[in-house]
Amino acid sequence: SETPWWKGAAIYQIYPRSFMDSNGDGIGDLPGITSRLDHVARLGVDAIWVSPFFASPMKDFGYDVSDYRAVDPIFGTLADFDALVARAHELGLKVLIDQVYSHTSDQHEWFAESRADRTGPKNDWYVWADPKPDGSPPSNWQSVFGGPAWTWDARRRQYYLHNFLSCQPQLNLHNPAVQDAVLDVMRFWLDRGVDGFRIDALNFAMHDPAFTDNPPAPATDRPRTRPFDFQLKRHNQSHPDIPRFIERIRALTDEYEAVFTVAEVGGDEAHAEMKAFTAGETHLNSAYGFNFLYAERLTPGLVCAALAEWPDEEGVGWPSWAFENHDAPRALSRWVEEGDREAFARLKVALLACLRGNAILYQGEELGLLQVEIPFEQLHDPEAIANWPLTLSRDGARTPMPWEEVAGGGFGHEAPWLPHGEENLARAAAVQEGDPHSLLAHTRALLALRKAHPALLYGRVTRCETRGDLLVLGRRHGEDCIRTFFNLGAGEALLGADEAQGTVLTAVNGATTDTLPPYAALVVQI
Ligand code: BGC
Ligand code: CA
Repeated sequence: SETPWWKGAAIYQIYPRSFMDSNGDGIGDLPGITSRLDHVARLGVDAIWVSPFFASPMKDFGYDVSDYRAVDPIFGTLADFDALVARAHELGLKVLIDQVYSHTSDQHEWFAESRADRTGPKNDWYVWADPKPDGSPPSNWQSVFGGPAWTWDARRRQYYLHNFLSCQPQLNLHNPAVQDAVLDVMRFWLDRGVDGFRIDALNFAMHDPAFTDNPPAPATDRPRTRPFDFQLKRHNQSHPDIPRFIERIRALTDEYEAVFTVAEVGGDEAHAEMKAFTAGETHLNSAYGFNFLYAERLTPGLVCAALAEWPDEEGVGWPSWAFENHDAPRALSRWVEEGDREAFARLKVALLACLRGNAILYQGEELGLLQVEIPFEQLHDPEAIANWPLTLSRDGARTPMPWEEVAGGGFGHEAPWLPHGEENLARAAAVQEGDPHSLLAHTRALLALRKAHPALLYGRVTRCETRGDLLVLGRRHGEDCIRTFFNLGAGEALLGADEAQGTVLTAVNGATTDTLPPYAALVVQI
């Protein structure tokens, strides 16, 4: 059977609030996205993934949905969405949208009905539980944003579960009626012509009905380096009801043509779930985890360990990889010292283009955007204000796209909802456009190289070797054999005399067939 469009795809994540503002309120919106889609198409990606734009009180900036079928007025209208899809399809871009089934906003009408009445039709659409005899919460589960995962509701006089903010009550997806309701939502968007879905926090979709306490988190003096803390093993992440729910999702998407589904599976040891969610032909097409999103350093060992989780074997799913997204600090600010950022940015794109699996680029990654330290009075990230020290706010990775190097960055307002940051303004798309040596040009070239080689799109991994800071990655698909060398360190790496024999397809940062300067890469067809 022919290879589906999504296998080996490059996907571009758009965070609507920060991509482009079309109506001058300083906040990105759907018409703004539509007006900038030619920039995305010129990158040579196959699809966009649009983060939530649905009706929401915006406590978690749209990941708290109050109406799954409505576009929040701040982002526009359903007609604006239809126009975005039409323009994307005109440009040859598939459209994936985010779907948040694990929880709703507490402003969703379903929650209002559920909390109002213990005996009403929606009384168990959420996870309600009585306190323990001593009045404490039903279990010791913690929200990934910190604090207990249970909040007392005075009206219903019970606790309700929330894995994230207390205004994001957990849907009880064990309940078939709730599954029916969210599958109806998926059908609504499929009928509007979307080509697929990124499914939010899928490994949090179910809970352990016995509310078994988690084991105590291992004692650690590890500083909290991110807003998400998965130290507490969660009983609910691998509940057998999740694959059953996934089979229903797959049955629905199989009713439509060539739909792609990719799940976010967060957490430190999430691989077992990722395999379960994508195994065989009755589950999701792909999943991506946090292997790279929170890594403090990009090492050859990290890459080999990640690739080894997805062997080319019967029944094992197809991975997707992201180095950045709207939650994690920008990779260039995490992985490399300031002086090496330019070189590292080019190497990072080359690596993403050569990994086995789909490549997900977060908006601005093609420009080399950096994490921006946002002054407290400008913080918009609710949990940053409520629970975390400044440095853990997620706003720093959500600064607006800089289109031109002018005040406001050509974003559509001279004072967007977050500051650009001087360094990012200097990396504006217009500054890099037309410069053949820019990271933007390099990104386009590497995605074109990937697209030209079946080994880079679909190839199995024939070699994954680490030698200090050197990573050697071999891939093969039929007659197409590619060997790639990455120097992930600051020293010079030497290649074996015969190693880089073949046709050099691209040399990054001065790589030659026998030496790799710091952060250099070599892609060779052998
Ligand atoms: C999203 C976060 C969000 C959380 C709760 C994550 O998967 O990427 O932005 O806060 O789920 O929906
Ligand atoms: Ca706007």
